[in-house]
Amino acid sequence: MTISSEFPVEGTCGGMALCASCQVYVLSDHDLGERKEAEEAMLAEAFHVKENSRLGCQIYLTGDLEGLVVKLAPSEDDDEESDW
Ligand code: FES
Repeated sequence: MTISSEFPVEGTCGGMALCASCQVYVLSDHDLGERKEAEEAMLAEAFHVKENSRLGCQIYLTGDLEGLVVKLAPSEDDDEESDW
């Protein structure tokens, strides 16, 4: 999702669920399914994690996600959420 949407995220690991630089907060009511083990493990070590946190690189856009609303989580060096 973060790659195809051209969000300003580092995506340091290239979408392997190894860096959490693509963390987003899911604001809409879409069912993204359960987090897979790798995503869960990465978020357990990430900063600023909330209940609605997901790794953007692990969200695969389909027609079912029409209208999905997310907000980028702050980076580990930043305390402010972006407006994206
Ligand atoms: S790009 Fe590294 S976890 Fe998503």
